[in-house]
Amino acid sequence: MGNVLVLYDSKSGNTAKMADYVAQGAKDIEGTQVRLRSAEEASADDIFWCDGLAVGSPTYVGVVSWRMKRFWDEIVPETWGKVDGKIACTFSSSGGWGGGAEMTCLSLHIMLMNFGFLVFGIPDYVGEAFTLHYGAVVAREPKREEEIAACQRLGKRLAQWVAVYVDGRKEHLPGPIDKR
Ligand SMILES: Cc1cc2nc3c(=O)[nH]c(=O)nc-3n(C[C@H](O)[C@H](O)[C@H](O)COP(=O)(O)O)c2cc1C
Repeated sequence: MGNVLVLYDSKSGNTAKMADYVAQGAKDIEGTQVRLRSAEEASADDIFWCDGLAVGSPTYVGVVSWRMKRFWDEIVPETWGKVDGKIACTFSSSGGWGGGAEMTCLSLHIMLMNFGFLVFGIPDYVGEAFTLHYGAVVAREPKREEEIAACQRLGKRLAQWVAVYVDGRKEHLPGPIDKR
C-alpha cells in the first residue's frame, strides 16, 4: 500500500503544525503508511521510500526557506534522475495573507518538477471563500476550522492519488469537487 512522506521546514512551529494536519489527512485513507520528517532530519532514503510527498515551507522573502532549498540541493547527487514519477503537493505558512505563501508553493513546485515529480493542486473549497488551488496556505499557525481542513484535505488527496495511481485502488478516486 502507498507510502506518504510529509516533509517540512519550520523555525517557529507554524509549518510544523500544518505538517501534522497534512499527515493526519493522509492517514484517512486506510493502508497508507505516513512518515513525518523535518528538512533537517530527512534523508534521500525518505524520498526513495515514498510514493507521494507533501512538502511544506515557511514563506521566506516570498519563496521557499533556505533550509528546505538546502535539503533538495544536497540530495541531488543521490536522487536526481531516480525519483521521477512520484506524486507531490505543497503547503506554506506565511506571516500574513498576501505575504507570498502561494508563491512559496509555486517555488516548491518548481523544485519538485525539476526532479520529475507529478505536482498537483486542489480545486475544492474547504470553507467559505477558502480553497487550496496551489497547495494549502495559512497565515501563521493553522487555527480556524477551514485552515485545518485545508491541510487535512491536502494530505487526504495526496493519499487518494497514491491509492489510485500507484496502488490501482480506483475506489479511492475523489468524488465531485467540493464547491461552497
Ligand atoms: C527570514 C524570514 C523571511 C520571511 N518572509 C516572509 C514573507 O516574505 N512574507 C510573509 O508573509 N512572511 C514572511 N515571514 C514570516 C514567516 O513566513 C511566518 O512567520 C511563518 O509562519 C513562519 O513559519 P514557521 O513557524 O513554520 O517557521 C518571514 C520570516 C522570516 C524569518
